[in-house]
Amino acid sequence: MTRIPVVAGNWKMNFDHLEATYFVQKLAWTLRDAHFGFRHCEVTLMPPFTSIRSVQVLIEADRLKLTYGAQAVSVTNQGAFTGDVSADMLAKLGCTYVLVGHSERRKYHPEDDANIVDQVRAVLAAGMKPILCVGESFEERRQGIELEFAVGQVQDVIRDLSDKEAEQMLIAYEPVWAIGTGMVATPQSAQQAAAAIRSHLTDVYGASVAERVRILYGGSVNSSNATQLMMEGKDIDGFLVGGASLDAEEFATIARLT
Ligand code: G3H
Repeated sequence: MTRIPVVAGNWKMNFDHLEATYFVQKLAWTLRDAHFGFRHCEVTLMPPFTSIRSVQVLIEADRLKLTYGAQAVSVTNQGAFTGDVSADMLAKLGCTYVLVGHSERRKYHPEDDANIVDQVRAVLAAGMKPILCVGESFEERRQGIELEFAVGQVQDVIRDLSDKEAEQMLIAYEPVWAIGTGMVATPQSAQQAAAAIRSHLTDVYGASVAERVRILYGGSVNSSNATQLMMEGKDIDGFLVGGASLDAEEFATIARLT
């Protein structure tokens, strides 16, 4: 089964709506083939909430073959939840994806496994696709339990999903020690983690579901390491890019190499 790779740019808390507009214009110019679609991969942008609408307007006006999504979501649909944004609101803005369980959300917000399961359910119920982030810290890697840890995080979240729901999932393997540090996992170890996650999906849902789920690698991806990670990662279906997604030319190069 052929999986279309995804290159997702997680802007984190960068780019106000004016900077977002400038970025998309520059990216569209850099990737002029964005008007026609990429042969090899899907390119998606994950702006802060305040920039999603600006990104949507430009993509629709210029008919760019880019998708976009959100970095977080509330588990509730509406009501007295100051500061929260619901899955329905994001779906109405045309979001395709929502990041769930990013390590920065797990660290700075009270997001535990139960909450992450609810976020996944909210995203799926609103017709979008969750990108579930998992990955070990330096300490777990030092203990040699990185694969068990990442697979365990997947297991904790997906175990009650139906086959149809599971197929909608994307999983981003992002070792925490590699995020924003310039230390990238070796292609072999990224592939090993992706393969372990796919093998777990096979055990739970069977091969036909597992073969459909796209598994991304994240953690200090840039245009110098993307090719090697893709070439040696038969289970790696693209990237979740942080820092390097803030430079339109660098991000476009990663997309071309994927
Ligand atoms: O969501 C993206 C990841 O946290 C990776 O960030 O590419 O800056 O290491 P990074």
